[in-house]
Amino acid sequence: MGNSPETTQGQHWRPTKLTQRRYNRQAALYDLQGALLERLAIGRWRRILWSKVEAGRVLEVGVGTGTNVAYHPSDAAVVAIDLSPKLLARAANKARKNGKPVELGLMDAQRLAFPDNAFDSAAATFVFCSVPDPIAGLREVRRVLKPGGRLILLEHVRLGNRLLGWLMDLLNPLMVRVSGANINRDTVANVEKAGFQVLAVDSFFGGLVKLVEARKGTQ
Ligand SMILES: C[S@@+](CC[C@H](N)C(=O)[O-])C[C@H]1O[C@@H](n2cnc3c(N)ncnc32)[C@H](O)[C@@H]1O
Repeated sequence: MGNSPETTQGQHWRPTKLTQRRYNRQAALYDLQGALLERLAIGRWRRILWSKVEAGRVLEVGVGTGTNVAYHPSDAAVVAIDLSPKLLARAANKARKNGKPVELGLMDAQRLAFPDNAFDSAAATFVFCSVPDPIAGLREVRRVLKPGGRLILLEHVRLGNRLLGWLMDLLNPLMVRVSGANINRDTVANVEKAGFQVLAVDSFFGGLVKLVEARKGTQ
């Protein structure tokens, strides 16, 4: 699969390179760091997300170390991309171990190397908190979805509570440096700004995590 993130240009180049470096750096410990939360809650949310993904050609954006691979529906042909070669190498191992035929590619979500209308659906978990220009990334996902195609996201978002929201804004620069992820994004609004029609939003963990179902209109 062509279009390595090195082809990312213009305003996105520097922040995208930084994001790539931050995730490459975490590759060895990434799964270990998240293991407890994964067992307590995230695994269940992943199962819910993937139960909503229908058969067909599916794009997974930001596959990371491939934790979702175990949940991919067996009747879906999944193409999964990520910015970090080190995380992708781990995803390839997991796919092999799980016997899942996922096609993996090194690619920037803000500049997808797929033609228009190429996928029936798209999914991502905890990705648009890290994509430097999330609306550009979501617009790209919309472009490669067929008319009527659905996008399903699991994302942590900025809390509506005034004090907690303010705290998240305050801590955000530090969190981005340490983890690569922004903790104060309004991803539901970003999905709408990218031109999707939001169909449903479920909240987990007191509204910190949202499961968003959206659709590309037919015109
Ligand atoms: C918090 S991790 C989540 C990984 C995985 N989806 C999961 O649920 O475990 C964020 C992922 O988004 C990827 N990412 C960030 N910006 C990206 C971009 N512009 N294009 C593609 N992937 C990106 C990172 O490399 C990383 O794998």
